[in-house]
Amino acid sequence: MAKPSLMTASPKKALSKELMKRVKSAVRFSYAPYSKILVSAGLYCASGKIYTGVNIENSSYSLTMCAERIALFKAVSEGEKKFRLLLLYSPQLNFIMPCGACLQVLSEFAPDIIIVLMNENDELKFYPIKTLLTKPFTLPYNDNHVV
Ligand code: THU
Repeated sequence: MAKPSLMTASPKKALSKELMKRVKSAVRFSYAPYSKILVSAGLYCASGKIYTGVNIENSSYSLTMCAERIALFKAVSEGEKKFRLLLLYSPQLNFIMPCGACLQVLSEFAPDIIIVLMNENDELKFYPIKTLLTKPFTLPYNDNHVV
């Protein structure tokens, strides 16, 4: 399959119709019987690949996993190291914001990633992660990079 043609300098241009389509399509896999908030994320990597993730809830509520972390963990576990942009979407919310836990985890692997919020009308809002989480927790020996 051909690589998606997303490799451009501008983050706005990088957000192709393909990424939006993939994220909207993946939301049907969300497992959210408790909150009924379906969430889908698409992580666009420097390799050109897209990894999607959805929220997966549990009857033991606190074991729920957010869509962003599912997408990130899928990508990291497949060997991805550089991340350009994360697109986040929920049909139930007009521009869902990423939670603090996801920002913390994303910051460690992708300190310069752009977070893009999409609503039902395909309108977009762009946020560099550093504007949403200005001071992530780091350990003294953690240089905030995946080696
Ligand atoms: N959720 C996400 O998937 N990502 C976020 O950043 C915020 C919240 C999910 C978790 C839960 O399944 C539902 O949204 C309602 O909190």
